[in-house]
Amino acid sequence: MKYNPKVNEEIARMPGFSLPHPYQPETISQGILRLMYELEGFLAEITGMDHVTLQPAAGAHGEITGMMMVKACLQARGDKRSKVLVPDTAHGTNCSTSTVASYQMVGLTSNERGVINPQQVAEKMDEGVAAIMVTNPNTLGLFEENLAEIAEIVHRKGGFVYCDEANLNALMGIVKLGHLGVDVVHINLHKTFSTPHGGGGPGAGPVAIKKELAPYLPIPVIDKKEGTYRLNYERPQSIGKVRAFYGNVGILLRAYAYILSMGPDGLRRASEMAVLNANYLMHGLKGAYHLPYDRPCMHECVFTDRLQEKSHVNTLDIAKRLIDYGFHPPTIYFPLVVKGALMMEPTETESKENLDRFIRTMIQIAKEAEQQPDLLRQAPQRVKVRRLDEVQAARKPRLRWTPKE
Ligand SMILES: Cc1ncc(COP(=O)(O)O)c(C=O)c1O
Repeated sequence: MKYNPKVNEEIARMPGFSLPHPYQPETISQGILRLMYELEGFLAEITGMDHVTLQPAAGAHGEITGMMMVKACLQARGDKRSKVLVPDTAHGTNCSTSTVASYQMVGLTSNERGVINPQQVAEKMDEGVAAIMVTNPNTLGLFEENLAEIAEIVHRKGGFVYCDEANLNALMGIVKLGHLGVDVVHINLHKTFSTPHGGGGPGAGPVAIKKELAPYLPIPVIDKKEGTYRLNYERPQSIGKVRAFYGNVGILLRAYAYILSMGPDGLRRASEMAVLNANYLMHGLKGAYHLPYDRPCMHECVFTDRLQEKSHVNTLDIAKRLIDYGFHPPTIYFPLVVKGALMMEPTETESKENLDRFIRTMIQIAKEAEQQPDLLRQAPQRVKVRRLDEVQAARKPRLRWTPKE
């Protein structure tokens, strides 16, 4: 679990920020408009892009906003395209977004290094492809090392490059995607910029774009003229509004305060620590668990349960046993490209002591899997609620609390 600085919570709750009503006139909203205008600039700088919209309320919302801009731009060119390329290492929301944006999804298979093969992109790229949607780092926690070459291939045939940058905490201050030929990126502020991820939100998924897509930005756009900020609705080619008012402003405040307090060097350091921690974990667990792609990772590493198969113990058992040791289990059975995945993302805020404790526990669980596999199959034992019927929970969710009779 990532720890976010409390001070940013305090700042978001300051009355000057939390009390104003969004219908308040621009003349008495200059402070918050300036803050959002500057935050757009910070995010454009971090990603190497030209413009940013802060409106989308989540990562997936950012994706559909970005793809709507791509679609509007193609339509304005009179260019009818019907397909989007999506690799098997993309986040699931990329597939959904391309479908919701009414494109036919064309799958790409990652290569033996766990990344997109440019040759395959060249084979599938034609004048019917609107865009490629790349998650970077991808869901295996690997950097898409051929992105610049892929962008060239896609651009040559008139397509756009969309980059899912939900996990920007792997790259801040190290690489700017705009310099690799990316046209659109979304960022999950509720991962990297001081808002907790998970727990049902709220979040924010700003979208950064290259100049060419600027006419299609959602309205209103914040303009600055002679030191005054105003909300500009007069943008005839805009895709319209994608969120009530101006987005989840509380989350934007936390991000702004975080960026200012960290500064450029601090942001880079956060990314370096996120990557270092994930690689430390990966090296610590190598040998105890199967590592499908044995190469340096970014902010997360992915193992599988293959070595435990002989004891008839699986990923779910391992995750449940972790609960007995007081750890929140990592993401399991995702990404789908590897069978029985255990995806671990320590983030930049875990201490070496905590990482060592986690590694020791995971190695202990691997030993138990060999010597006392029932311990894992019956886990968790030290909690009030044991294993839930997950099929029932998914098929017949009880979404209301009712008192026991
Ligand atoms: C790589 C990636 N893309 C997209 C998303 C979707 O973000 P959200 O849950 O905010 O819609 C996530 C969420 O974790 C993600 O990790």
